[in-house]
Parts: sequence; structure tokens; C-alpha cells
Amino acid sequence: MKILAYVGSMQGEESRTYLYTKKLLDSIKIEEPKIEYKIFTAKDYNILPCEGCGYCFKHNICRQNEKDKMEDLLKNILDANLVIMGSPVYAHNVSGIMKNVIDRMSYWIHTMRLSGKYGMAISTYESNGENIVIDYLDNVMSQMGIKVIEKMSISSSELADISVLDRSVYKTGVSIIENLKSTVKTSEKLEDIFMSRKRMFKYYKQLGYDTELSKYWEREGRNKYISFEELLGK
Ligand SMILES: Cc1cc2nc3c(=O)[nH]c(=O)nc-3n(C[C@H](O)[C@H](O)[C@H](O)COP(=O)(O)O)c2cc1C
Repeated sequence: MKILAYVGSMQGEESRTYLYTKKLLDSIKIEEPKIEYKIFTAKDYNILPCEGCGYCFKHNICRQNEKDKMEDLLKNILDANLVIMGSPVYAHNVSGIMKNVIDRMSYWIHTMRLSGKYGMAISTYESNGENIVIDYLDNVMSQMGIKVIEKMSISSSELADISVLDRSVYKTGVSIIENLKSTVKTSEKLEDIFMSRKRMFKYYKQLGYDTELSKYWEREGRNKYISFEELLGK
């Protein structure tokens, strides 16, 4: 089992979001030594903003991937069973760099490219805006096909209180380990997203759009499945 965490803070390993994520993953590793994890931060993976050219929606790849480490990040995400997206709250939203990463992955929303993976959203904050961030990360991951099993926000005062921090890490760690032992299950939300994508690709076909995204959808046999549950079972 592999876990890949992306922390959208330029503070790198000094970042609170990183420190919380690292503590959580270290505690999981103690309980389940076979679990491997990697944490990438925005300091090392400083991803360029989307240029808005639309190339990715036609070609299923971003033209900018050669200019930064996005391809390596995506490769590691594809290799993981659980994807963690962690961001500090910046003015009631994710950090700009986290948004860059998400924008550059937008085309994976169309194909639900990360179907079959588990996900977790983390935000750290001072006093406000945390729910907007974890709800947004939850939604974006779900749109990519990820089953989000945990949403955790933790303030600087909670992080400074070792008993609160330890309780949070323990509770979340147990939940993640339990989930990783079972196969990914569907949800009403994922079924709705899947049906809307099926409709979209059917409509594109009627219009004669022949993009690499449509080809991926066909190649993966996504049209054949009557439900997301069926897709997960294959
Ligand atoms: C530009 C900026 C904007 C911020 N906006 C908010 C905010 O809207 N609400 C909040 O509670 N904290 C806000 N903070 C505080 C950070 O979310 C908080 O310190 C966070 O834990 C930093 O995480 P990091 O150490 O991983 O970068 C902001 C910090 C910065 C630098």
C-alpha cells in the first residue's frame, strides 16, 4: 500500500501542514510498517500556473509538464493507493500553489482518472476558512474519481496542544488503516459524477469530438459500466 501526500506550502518541511501530515503518516507507518509513504511539498514541487491553452483537454497531457516537476508528481499520484492533498488556508481558500496543481490536473476530472483510489483532505489554519478548503479538496478529488475517506482541519492552537494533536493523529490514522484494508466502495456522490461524465462523453461523441480524453474513456471501457460500482469491481 502506498500513500502520496502533496502539501501546498512553500514553507516546505517547516510547514505546519507538512508537520501534521508527517506526524500522521509516521504514526500509520508504526502501526502498519508495510505502508510506504512519500510527501511532496510546494517548495520542491513548485508547479507553474495553468496557461489556459486547453491543450490537455484534447491531448490528455499538459504541454507545460516539461518545464516543472508536474509529470513526476502525477506519476507518483497514479502509483498511490491513497492520495492526500494538504493546504494551508490562504484568504479562505487553498494556497495559490495548491490551486496551480489542481488546475494542471483539471483534465483528470473529465475522465475520473483517479478512480479506485482513496483520498484525504487536510487544511491547517489560524482561525477561519478551514471548511471551505477541506470541502473544496474533497470535491476536486471526488471529481477525479477518488473516494475521500477523511477530511481534517487543524488550527495553529490545536497543533500547539500536544494532547489535541496526538488524539487527532491517532483517530485519523486508525480510520485510514481500516479503510486501506478494504476495497474502495462507491458512494452516491461518485455515482452522480460518473453518470454525468458518461453523459458528457456520449454528447461529445454525437458532436464528433475525437480527443485523447474520449479515446481514454473508450479504451478504459468506462462507457460499458452501468455504474461506478461496476467500474470499481473490474
Ligand atoms: C497569505 C496568507 C493568508 C492566510 N489566510 C488565512 C485565512 O484566511 N484564515 C486563517 O485561519 N488563516 C490564514 N492564514 C494562516 C495559515 O493558514 C496558517 O498559518 C497555516 O497553518 C500555515 O500553514 P503552513 O505552515 O503549512 O504554510 C494565512 C496565511 C498566509 C501566509
